[in-house]
Amino acid sequence: MWKNVPLFPEQASTLAGEVDALYFTFLGISVFFGLLVAGLVVFFAIRFRRRSEDEIGRPEKAGIWLEVTWSVVPLAILLTMFAWGAKVYVEAFRPPGNAVEYFVTAKQWMWKFQHPQGNREINVLHVPLGQPIRLTMTSEDVIHSFFVPAFRVKADVLPGRYTTVWFEASKVGTFHLFCAEYCGAEHSVMGGDIVVMNPADYELWLAGRDSGPSVVASGEELFRVKACNTCHRPDSATLAPILHGIFGEEAEFQDGSTQIVDENYLRESILNPTAKLVKGYKPLMPTYKGQLTEEEVLQLIGYIKSLASDATESQGTVPASGSPALDSDEG
Ligand code: CUA
Repeated sequence: MWKNVPLFPEQASTLAGEVDALYFTFLGISVFFGLLVAGLVVFFAIRFRRRSEDEIGRPEKAGIWLEVTWSVVPLAILLTMFAWGAKVYVEAFRPPGNAVEYFVTAKQWMWKFQHPQGNREINVLHVPLGQPIRLTMTSEDVIHSFFVPAFRVKADVLPGRYTTVWFEASKVGTFHLFCAEYCGAEHSVMGGDIVVMNPADYELWLAGRDSGPSVVASGEELFRVKACNTCHRPDSATLAPILHGIFGEEAEFQDGSTQIVDENYLRESILNPTAKLVKGYKPLMPTYKGQLTEEEVLQLIGYIKSLASDATESQGTVPASGSPALDSDEG
């Protein structure tokens, strides 16, 4: 119904319909009760107006059921709205397990993207239709905000930490990307396009350009170049913790506190290694602050995430679904 309302952006992701249904239901409920209250105010003002100078109001004899009704019914409506809103929120901010990870780095005033296969793009991101895509985002300078109205997706992009959003495009086409946080003189032109392609076209597009090394391969290279591998060895935990299989596991620190190893923790440990010292280790690791670009930090993290423990297969986190056509040269 509202799909054709020109004031509204088109729905181009699997989430868009749900967000709109929620939005329009809330809007409808608000309009209904707004009109009801306003209407009753006018109606009562006329119905119970003072008819003569010396008229005295009579005490009202409202039954208890009336008060119970106007308490319980709105409560039920509001709790339903809350539960529904929470469900859509959780869906919007928890990427599905099969989501493919792309990287986004924002800076004044452009968007830089990297595909898991290695391709880089600026202000344009090509993605396949029907594939859940998770964006891990950070900023090189100030706060930006990643906003694609057609996908109903928006999240702040912050310097010094990672935020994520995900979407699954449900329509082929080009959809505008906005920066939705005032970030300086050229904020208004800091935009781009998300180009949604059929999976076959996307594979052709990928195959048609030099992708360069994948995120994991770049990270592995950096891991050697920056000599991380002299202490972080797969076979010895003497100088530094073994990194294989740590992602998603719990780390225990000197002060007895613990934390699940995620992107933000890895980032902090690379740039400020003494902030959370793993139990049993000395503060030997130098800081890499100022020596790595945000993209390089992301590549290192991508590589560390790909290091599975010996128990599991060492396939890495680049999902297979994104790459099979890379092997076939006929496309
Ligand atoms: Cu970046 Cu506004």
